[in-house]
Amino acid sequence: MHEQTTAMTDVILEAARKAREETSGEPEPHLVGKVDWPIQCTVGPGLEGAIAAESKIGYVNGAKGWLVYRGYDIFDLAAHSTYEEVCHLLLIGSLPGAAELDAFKNRLNGYLLLNKTMRMLMGFPVETMNAMGALRLGTNLMRQEFTYRDREEGRPATDDAIGADEDSIAMETAPGGGAEATFRFGEKNNSAACRPTLQDACGMDACLHLIAGVSTITAAIARVHQGHMAIEPDPGISHAANFLYMMTGRKPTPLEERIMDVALILHADHGMNASTFAAMVVASTLSDVYFSVGSGIGALNGPLHGGANEQVVVSLEEIGGVGNVKAWVDAAMKGKRKIMGFGHRVYKAYDPRARILGPLAAELARENAAVRPLYETAHALEEEVLSRMGAEKKLFPNVDFYSGIVYSSLGIPREMFTPIFAVSRVAGWTARVQEYLTNNRIFRPRAVYTGEFNKRYVPVEERR
Ligand code: COA
Repeated sequence: MHEQTTAMTDVILEAARKAREETSGEPEPHLVGKVDWPIQCTVGPGLEGAIAAESKIGYVNGAKGWLVYRGYDIFDLAAHSTYEEVCHLLLIGSLPGAAELDAFKNRLNGYLLLNKTMRMLMGFPVETMNAMGALRLGTNLMRQEFTYRDREEGRPATDDAIGADEDSIAMETAPGGGAEATFRFGEKNNSAACRPTLQDACGMDACLHLIAGVSTITAAIARVHQGHMAIEPDPGISHAANFLYMMTGRKPTPLEERIMDVALILHADHGMNASTFAAMVVASTLSDVYFSVGSGIGALNGPLHGGANEQVVVSLEEIGGVGNVKAWVDAAMKGKRKIMGFGHRVYKAYDPRARILGPLAAELARENAAVRPLYETAHALEEEVLSRMGAEKKLFPNVDFYSGIVYSSLGIPREMFTPIFAVSRVAGWTARVQEYLTNNRIFRPRAVYTGEFNKRYVPVEERR
């Protein structure tokens, strides 16, 4: 292994040691393993606390700051694995042997070149489009290239599918559900929608097509935004190296490749986060994985989710230096403004991904004078926020706090930070959609109606 990448592994293992030491006293997790449905839980706004599905794919323990992909600790995966291995792990369920990994990479690389998609995408004014918007459009065009879903023979069979609009049951039948309201909730047969054929828009090939394609499209958008032409992929190098190559036109150094690989591993999956849930909701209607991923991209775009990494750098630049941190935090707290890159619905301990990206950003800043001021401001901001809100509000840096600095050190423009999140998270979206579809039930929560009743209709000319 390259000397600098070995040093990176040491940084990650040190972060792992600190994490274990600091959280050993936290309570053991509950709500893992087999559960009996219905589950008793308290649900809050934003579906806080709600349990929407069972999953074997990944686990987040917010109290301890654990992140686990199919039983493997994120620190071990970041230190020793690769993004391709992690994709195999998430989608297929196990870490591959050498031959399996080769076959998997070949299958993935087979989808990197998106001639038709690229031709269609370049017909749009990508240079003036928001990068996430262009990416979402690109995945839709991939659907056009790959699937026959819109033809009659490509449509999913809905006979066995389970779906219901529960609010309407009472209107369609006697209150409480008469004999007509016989939705077959008990029979969870898998529909014929997911046959693993090339025309199957939610099978494994579609997932690999998307994992490969999102990287190709993202890199092409970055190129076009910088006034260059898109570059064809090089399937002979790793996913991380190829992504950087397609974005910059330059083969990355071993260190750059490893940094990108670790970033991709860290962002690949994260429980029922907003974009994963959005992707699953769309899939649960027996739509397809292309539309699911499009919805995931839409949800990821927001500043409360994936868009936070960009906003962190905006804030750091606005602060403008270590000396201004205290006054900036004072003003933010006084104005009750959220500080981007801090806080998490689930983590009430230090986010393990930030534990890795923080020290990594520190190492990179040591070598790179251009990003050093950004890192120093970030570090001072972390100390200030932890000392003022860490203990009381359990506010710690999240994955987005240091990722922007890491990407900046690779020379990646800010507007690409959130699309890079999608380049990685597409693995989690597709894996979870696949898993959910094996036992699908349409998502349909309810709202508590707090509006009025019995209002009299007033014709428009009589309204004031
Ligand atoms: N800065 C300042 N205060 C914060 C905060 C932040 N980034 N995040 C949460 N808080 C405070 C809230 O004001 C609230 O305080 P209160 O109890 O006095 O009202 C408390 O912590 C709970 O926050 P809440 O907004 O209810 O948490 P949530 O679970 O609904 O939201 C996030 C989670 C991630 C959306 C939220 O922490 C946030 O907006 N963070 C900034 C955006 C970000 O970094 N997103 C990336 C997530 S990976």
